[in-house]
Amino acid sequence: MSETSHDAPDPGPHWRRPGAQPDDWDPRAPHVLADQIAAYDELRGTCPVAHSDYLGWSVLRHDDVLEVLHDHATFSNVVSERLTVPNGMDPPEHTEFRRINDKYFTPERMAAFHERCRHVAVGVLDQLPDDGDVELMGAVARTYALRVQSAFLGWPADLEEPLRAWVRKNHEATLARDRSAMGAIAIEFDGYIRELLDERRALGDNAPKDITTELLHDRVWDRPVTTEELVSLLRNWTVGELGTIAASVGIVAHFLAANPEVQEQLHDDDALVGPAVDEILRMHGPLIANRRATTRDVSLRERALGAGDRVSVIWAAANRDPEVFGDPDEFRLDRDPGLNLLYGAGIHVCPGAPLARLELRLITSELLAGFRVAPALSGADPVRATYPGSGFTSLPLHLTRR
Ligand code: HEM
Repeated sequence: MSETSHDAPDPGPHWRRPGAQPDDWDPRAPHVLADQIAAYDELRGTCPVAHSDYLGWSVLRHDDVLEVLHDHATFSNVVSERLTVPNGMDPPEHTEFRRINDKYFTPERMAAFHERCRHVAVGVLDQLPDDGDVELMGAVARTYALRVQSAFLGWPADLEEPLRAWVRKNHEATLARDRSAMGAIAIEFDGYIRELLDERRALGDNAPKDITTELLHDRVWDRPVTTEELVSLLRNWTVGELGTIAASVGIVAHFLAANPEVQEQLHDDDALVGPAVDEILRMHGPLIANRRATTRDVSLRERALGAGDRVSVIWAAANRDPEVFGDPDEFRLDRDPGLNLLYGAGIHVCPGAPLARLELRLITSELLAGFRVAPALSGADPVRATYPGSGFTSLPLHLTRR
């Protein structure tokens, strides 16, 4: 996961040298980049544990992904030498830092953030035209992800534009696998966070009463959390939130535009919005993959993985496994939610899932309450995002105020 909590290929120092194993596929082939979900569907059928120099082993089937997730002694999260709190850790470090994470996403915290979150959603949608084409990723999705994250953490509005540019640069450097650019980008982000933490330390008792200030008082193993650890934790929350929430808003809006009957069903029964969002994101995952490294020789679906091999669990493939979901493109609200791997499973299951669900439910409810969503009148097509991103980079839609 390099400097992202939500995956990026970053060859860690302990991994085996490339070339030790022939390639089964090319993750950067034009047809894969053009429609990665379709490419993973095909690969899951023909080569469910597939090797490439670029990614190492890609694990595509639902049952194999679960096996990897639950055997964290064999499939380690320590995939790079860089400190990554908590996702780049195994127990016992992971357990200690995960405790700090979890306390910020309790039902009480979510209830307290509810109205603020709705306010951010309404504010973003208020800026839309009454009747017209909009590019939804720019007009709604990215802005909402940035503002809602800043509201949750207590960050100032003037950080919005630097963060927006940072997300874009991070994505570009990750795709190009440009390690020096990735290092510079991580330092840039750390600078923003260090400044926020320093300001709060200097203000002492007068510091704003928000989560960023609260984190400064957290402890692990009965000692204060270091600045370095806090910066890493906040970086992972931010990267975890910004890319996936923006992608999710786009994926949900795109689905609603293509399915007017579902739009009316959800408009008429708000209680269905939460389960519908999870089901839409099962079909089209906003987060493609996360990484592991093997600690020993192990076989997976008769493929021999060596100790120190890189492994990617491909959520966007496992969640469309026909063995588990039948027709993966059938939108159904009566599926077993326990099978949906949208937020992962096992000890690294997404701690931010309650916040993500709240944010996505509210923006979707407010969008449906205010507008009818349809494909753009201009006829402009959506542009799909490429690995490691998902969803759309550009999503022209037509909105009409109800
Ligand atoms: C739609 C939005 C989101 C999706 C689909 C998502 C998905 C996931 C998944 C699948 C994992 C497991 C990764 C693994 O096993 O390696 C994960 C972990 C994580 N997520 Fe999220 N996430 C979302 C939003 C968020 C938010 C809003 C936050 C925080 C504000 C967050 C913070 C994290 C962190 C810190 C981890 C690492 C947990 C650990 O290693 O114990 N995520 N997420």
